[in-house]
Amino acid sequence: MAFRLKTELARRFEDELQFFKGWQRDKKGVGAVIPTSIYTARRMASVVNPHSGLPVLELGPGTGVITKAILERGLKPSQLVSVEYSSAFHEGLVRRFPGVDIRLGDAFRLDEVLAERSKEQFDCVISAIPMLSFPMERRVALLEDLLARVPAGRPVIQITYGPLSPVIKMPGRYVVSHYDFVVRNIPPAQLWTYRRAP
Ligand SMILES: C[S@@+](CC[C@H](N)C(=O)[O-])C[C@H]1O[C@@H](n2cnc3c(N)ncnc32)[C@H](O)[C@@H]1O
Repeated sequence: MAFRLKTELARRFEDELQFFKGWQRDKKGVGAVIPTSIYTARRMASVVNPHSGLPVLELGPGTGVITKAILERGLKPSQLVSVEYSSAFHEGLVRRFPGVDIRLGDAFRLDEVLAERSKEQFDCVISAIPMLSFPMERRVALLEDLLARVPAGRPVIQITYGPLSPVIKMPGRYVVSHYDFVVRNIPPAQLWTYRRAP
């Protein structure tokens, strides 16, 4: 028990250090100083329907806290596709999550990154892309691309730290809902969902 706790704490420290180094290399691209808390990660993963038979798409996995929470929902590793921009994070993820389809690339160029899987439908999208680092028209374009990859009515969930949805409302194109505010996160996190009307 004490050994497991020590191993878990060491792993968390290692993740935090790796994440901080990632932030030092690319502040805008990483968008946070420490990884998302497990509480937020679990809230985000709670949108996954593990019985849909469809894979899940994760964007910006970083050191993998949300990746782990998604797998804990009962998904097989082969049912998860994660897209990470940083090669240092990508390397760590491949080692830590064997069987998960972890792709190195840009979430804004998904057709290219997903290649042979680019026509697949996903159960939902779980995104930690630092949206506020990009201009609004790119955020809207990314969201619309993501919504085309999930069935109508299924969510794209996005983490952010500001009080407002990071993607503006587009009545008639998608529905924006506030999902949760998680205080046990540094800084406290806002979760938003986006869906096409069913
Ligand atoms: C705020 S961090 C979140 C990391 C992790 N999911 C977490 O919650 O702790 C944002 C992550 O998105 C990645 N990222 C930023 N821009 C990206 C892009 N265009 N495509 C894919 N990943 C990107 C960063 O490298 C980083 O891993």
